[in-house]
Amino acid sequence: MSASDGLGAGEIDPPQRLLMGPGPANAHPRVLRAMSAQLLGQFDPEFTDYMNETMALYRQVFQTQNRQTFLIDGTARAAIEAALISVLAPGDVCLVASHGRFGALLTEIAERCGAVVHVVSAPWGEVVPMAKLAEAAAAVKPRLIACVHGDTSTTMAQPLEGLGEVARQCGALSFVDATATLAGMPTPVDAWGADIVSAGLQKCLGGPSGIAPITISDRAAEHIFSRRHVELGLAAGGPSGNGPRIASNYFDLAMIMDYWSERRLNHHTESTTLLYGARECARLVLAEGLEARFARHAAAGRAMTAGVEAMGLTVYGDRAHKMTNVTGVYIPEGVDGERVRARMRVDFGIEIGSSFGPLHGKIWRLGAMGYNCTKPNVLNTLGALEAVLRTEGVALPSGQAVDAALAVFGSGIAA
Ligand SMILES: Cc1ncc(COP(=O)(O)O)c(C=O)c1O
Repeated sequence: MSASDGLGAGEIDPPQRLLMGPGPANAHPRVLRAMSAQLLGQFDPEFTDYMNETMALYRQVFQTQNRQTFLIDGTARAAIEAALISVLAPGDVCLVASHGRFGALLTEIAERCGAVVHVVSAPWGEVVPMAKLAEAAAAVKPRLIACVHGDTSTTMAQPLEGLGEVARQCGALSFVDATATLAGMPTPVDAWGADIVSAGLQKCLGGPSGIAPITISDRAAEHIFSRRHVELGLAAGGPSGNGPRIASNYFDLAMIMDYWSERRLNHHTESTTLLYGARECARLVLAEGLEARFARHAAAGRAMTAGVEAMGLTVYGDRAHKMTNVTGVYIPEGVDGERVRARMRVDFGIEIGSSFGPLHGKIWRLGAMGYNCTKPNVLNTLGALEAVLRTEGVALPSGQAVDAALAVFGSGIAA
């Protein structure tokens, strides 16, 4: 038989790649193994036990007591969309704190919900001061304040201390997109006082994209249940609310909360495979310990930064608010950033990130997340980047990037 078995498409056998961009990162082998387990019916008691266990695990990952902590089937933006469409009815006011592409995404989704959207923005490479957000919230009295924690487009992490207080003072709910930071940087949901926080698996959680953890406070759940209208054709679930029906069926968090409750009201067919993966991601995170995991990402971020600077490159953005797990680096004058990325991929099997919007062609984004966030991976990426840049004619101090990163990590071998 030919490699394609005469079908024109061979068995999947992807090349080895080390994914060191802003996500996806490579999945942990234990996550991939968990995902090869056989399917179960979604209402099989064994499977509903797995669902309950997954809820309990993610409460710890999100550092929250929220009962409503579960998974949305879909990529990270599915959970964002579910949160916004389930809270915002047409005409509701939404205040967005925007400091990059994903703030713009929140703005766009809120507009698609029919909300009246106000944006407090920071220039790319900076973050929004909480005092500015508080001032805008007091002025526009939003139904929802929506923020991005780590915006991978700019590599900046928005401080969120005091968010809950700001929201409560004006009677708003709050939402945080923690797609790129959950399990990599501290995301203390209850300490922030955030009402809804969502993520994806493909960054610091070390899994594939396709299912999105979310957590919802009781008061946000109460608001969403006030909009509950059980799907036509189903036996009555919970009581219908008086509020306007949520405009999406698939992303109706009232129905999804009923599905994840003991009532198990039928909604979508849960992705058994992705739930196994998400459950294993959380088990890995908690076995390592949140603090140890944050420290691992912080060390890799420091080493990556030291390495690129030792090469003579310039790190992008406000250093005081840089995400630990992604580093933006200016492409040197006269260098073709895409050729460098292609050489990294073809010659070294390493993927690094390009960038969007105003940063397109200006910076690369180097990630070290989840399973990939290790000393060897950071050193290999820096060594490869240095070699590629030299091949492209950039005069570089030889070997200093790896030396500088190694000095941050320390050697594992006793002197
Ligand atoms: C901060 C942030 N939010 C949302 C998303 C969207 O995630 P997904 O592609 O899984 O829908 C991403 C993806 O890169 C992201 O970095």
